[in-house]
Amino acid sequence: MPDTITITDDRTGKTVTVPIEGGVFPAAAVRELDPSLFIYDPAYMQTASCKSAITYLDGEAGILRYRGYPIEQLAEHSSYLEVAYLLLNGELPTTAQMEQWRFDVTHHTFIHENMRKRFVDGFHYDAHPMGMFVSSVAALGTFYDGAKEIFDADSRQRQILRLIAKTPTLAAMAYRFSVGLPFNYPDNDLSYPANFLHMMWKIGEYEVDPALERAMDVLFILHADHEQNCGTTAMRVVGSSHADPYSSAAAAACALYGPLHGGANEAVVRMLADIGSIENVPAFIESVKVGDGRLMGFGHRVYKNYDPRATIIKKTAYDVFEVTGKNPLLDIALALEEVALNDAYFIDRKLYPNVDFYSGLIYQALGFPVDMFTVLFAIPRTAGWLAHWQELLADGDQRISRPRQWYDGVGAREFVPIESR
Ligand code: ACO
Repeated sequence: MPDTITITDDRTGKTVTVPIEGGVFPAAAVRELDPSLFIYDPAYMQTASCKSAITYLDGEAGILRYRGYPIEQLAEHSSYLEVAYLLLNGELPTTAQMEQWRFDVTHHTFIHENMRKRFVDGFHYDAHPMGMFVSSVAALGTFYDGAKEIFDADSRQRQILRLIAKTPTLAAMAYRFSVGLPFNYPDNDLSYPANFLHMMWKIGEYEVDPALERAMDVLFILHADHEQNCGTTAMRVVGSSHADPYSSAAAAACALYGPLHGGANEAVVRMLADIGSIENVPAFIESVKVGDGRLMGFGHRVYKNYDPRATIIKKTAYDVFEVTGKNPLLDIALALEEVALNDAYFIDRKLYPNVDFYSGLIYQALGFPVDMFTVLFAIPRTAGWLAHWQELLADGDQRISRPRQWYDGVGAREFVPIESR
């Protein structure tokens, strides 16, 4: 069977044959047929907007790999900082590289005092932490001269370090402000996840529990990248105009803010609380099946199998509950999962738990308010966004993102003066 596709324009009889590589053929084939012919593809359902060597995802088989390494192995053996290095550099670091990377990130965790005292203090007292986070990421770029020097490798590396190091600081600052607590400065003696937990929760004496530190790190690993999702696409689209990485990352965070993207775990927690008890699970499932709402945390555009991240998160949840005590909503979640996985409605539609089904329960057990859930997603996703940003800048095929449209408005007409309308 030839690995080619032949397209014929029936209007002209013109034919073009192009190769199919890795399940993809170039849209240039359509351009060759007729430069004014376009493909209508809302939401890019069938469009590969770039080549990428960062994350591999097979939704039918439930496979997720970063730079070839299975997510299960990374979650078990690696740390978020090591994974961030891997995503950004393509290879796992040697001991010396890891030490340097850890040192560099750790020594960029502080933010300029004006960010806290003048910028953050300007927010309304009950501002949403994610709104504060996206604005602070954009504002951060104004503090650094080199931010716009995106074609200078040293400068790029400095901005990457700053963004990865400072996003936990910005996130914790947004939370502390939103509840009226004084800000905790970063503690450079702590690991990346322990420092974040310390900045979030320290009031008086505070020691990070190693099990919770590890759980936070695993959650960061699982959320570090997920190929061309809405937020990463926003990063690439804005980055393609050669905007600085802070502006591009802020755009990506804005995309993540939406409830269809980063907000689903919050919806899961609310749903479980509404269900209230295990006895109400069958009735809830029946209501979903007749179209009265959705089973939040189930289903995925790409995964038509168990989301591999959900399996790891479920296990992590038990590790966390050993320390914090069980989240009372867990039993409802387990009962829901069992009923749904054995019900023809969900089986036929290939609806399985996604990453959000259990993550909200862990966040809640760790003490995070639901408003912080999306911020917790944005911290580790920053590494993925930056890896894609670097890849974009080095990709000779890329130009400024500029899709075409299918105009379906009115045709040309004469202007009518206001008094005659
Ligand atoms: N509960 C009940 N039915 C569902 C669910 C669900 N969670 N998800 C999909 N379906 C049904 C749809 O009603 C549809 O049924 P039909 O064929 O009888 O009309 C069928 O399954 C296909 O659903 P689509 O909406 O076409 O699937 P799509 O790929 O567009 O949506 C999405 C994916 C948005 C994730 C969807 O499954 C959903 O809304 N899930 C709940 C929200 C959620 O958990 N989102 C987090 C995703 S993970 C992330 O973003 C990090």
